[in-house]
Amino acid sequence: MADERLIVALDFHKLADVKNLVKDLGDSVVFYKVGMELFYSVGAEVVDWLKSQNKKIFLDLKLHDIPNTVAGGLCSLMKLGADILNVHAAGGFTMMKTAAEALREESAKMEIAKPKLIAITILTSINQAEWYGAQNISEQVVSFAKIAQDAGLDGVVASPQEAKLIRENCGEKFLIVTPGIRPAGSDINDQSRISTPAAAIKNGANYLVVGRPIRAADNPKLATEKILAEISEV
Ligand code: C5P
Repeated sequence: MADERLIVALDFHKLADVKNLVKDLGDSVVFYKVGMELFYSVGAEVVDWLKSQNKKIFLDLKLHDIPNTVAGGLCSLMKLGADILNVHAAGGFTMMKTAAEALREESAKMEIAKPKLIAITILTSINQAEWYGAQNISEQVVSFAKIAQDAGLDGVVASPQEAKLIRENCGEKFLIVTPGIRPAGSDINDQSRISTPAAAIKNGANYLVVGRPIRAADNPKLATEKILAEISEV
């Protein structure tokens, strides 16, 4: 029943809340996202606990600093055993390339599996009116994706609205992870560039990150099952 394409965002402060939701969702979800809210409160313990439950982890800490600092930070995080790590593409080509090389070298030295490294393009909460760049959002997202690919990253985080363009420009093997997922009729919250789960998959997303539509639902398990059914029909 589980479908690895669904990543549930655990935006909690307490490990007890994580445990309740993960236990409630049971075998239907294998991939979870740990972001800054949870990691800054609970730390590595949450990663250890999720691993003890045989779950996969996207550690979404969005690193953005000079190349040497980001590379060192990622190597520290890699030792926790997450499956996906990320950086901001706005950190630049050299930062991403240095980070990707450091992860490759360090994982080989430690004889552990290298986590996927992906880049945040433009946050899904930003709309065209708020956007400050010279290019329009979708052009900028595609150029960030191409720079990330040239730097040796495995993929990007982008809005489902840009997934098709990224797929066309970066090919079939490049990972596209899309937050901003809102099942029809659900609350948009602070997101802007959204789509339904089915549309995101149709447009080429490999993974959907879903937080509040599951976490804040009256019945999170039912909300999850509806999303899984929707994507399995694509
Ligand atoms: O609750 P919601 O479904 O909006 O949660 C989306 C999750 O994806 C949040 O944890 C947020 O930090 C994350 N995210 C995002 N946009 C990005 C990258 C990550 O919304 N570009």
